[in-house]
Amino acid sequence: MKRGSASKLVVDGQHIAPRRRAEFEDTVASVGNPIVIRAARRANVDGMIITDRLHLRHCRRADVDAVLAYRSRPDVARHLSAGVWTREKTKLNLAAYEDALFSGVGDELVLLVETLAGAKVIGEVGLVWLDSETMTAEVGYVFNPESGGYGFATEAVAAVIRIAFDSLGFSTMVATTDEDNLPSRALCERLGMRLTVVKPAEDRRDVQECVYTVDNPNSAR
Ligand SMILES: CC(C)(COP(=O)(O)OP(=O)(O)OC[C@H]1O[C@@H](n2cnc3c(N)ncnc32)[C@H](O)[C@@H]1OP(=O)(O)O)[C@@H](O)C(=O)NCCC(=O)NCCS
Repeated sequence: MKRGSASKLVVDGQHIAPRRRAEFEDTVASVGNPIVIRAARRANVDGMIITDRLHLRHCRRADVDAVLAYRSRPDVARHLSAGVWTREKTKLNLAAYEDALFSGVGDELVLLVETLAGAKVIGEVGLVWLDSETMTAEVGYVFNPESGGYGFATEAVAAVIRIAFDSLGFSTMVATTDEDNLPSRALCERLGMRLTVVKPAEDRRDVQECVYTVDNPNSAR
């Protein structure tokens, strides 16, 4: 959302009054050049993030159809250790995400990604809290291929990394992806993440995994 933009700002289906626009002023950030993202300054208040084209928000149980639309696809699940989701599994996971806390090691925060233009769920971005001593988190992302190829996933992941660094205090972000998952590796590379490890997958799949890393530029070393 551009500063001073005349267009309406809608968050969680509510029109935001002009006097509240300042809460969503652009914060121009760089998460590993050359990607420059704009994310809401107050985005951490209720788990909501606004970028130029996207709205990231908490999951609701009612999102089952939109999430199932991509989570049930074998082509989407191909590189995911969770595999293809059934409707039941989607319902259970959404309920768990909706109620989840994100306050310590092992916690997971999952945000659904909607286009600002169409308010349509196009995917999800998740954070897993890996280590409190080093303040390391892992970012994950799953998108509907029908909305692929426009940079939406890159924009959403960049915004979540930005919030994790600036608002949640993480120092390091990693992304783990199958070696042959080229779209995912390209996304990491677009965000300036560096390839730090290649190792056998820790789940039962017989694949090599790549670990990409980016450090918070503002963390003391
Ligand atoms: C990984 C995944 C999210 C990548 O999707 P994607 O569509 O390639 O990613 P984006 O939405 O960022 O789009 C990038 C593409 O849009 C193009 N693009 C257009 N406008 C763009 C913009 N403003 N910014 C960045 N890229 C843009 C890029 O050039 C790129 O095109 P290319 O693939 O022809 O090079 C998707 O493949 C996916 O969900 N896979 C299944 C789940 C999965 O494997 N997740 C990863 C587990 S680790």
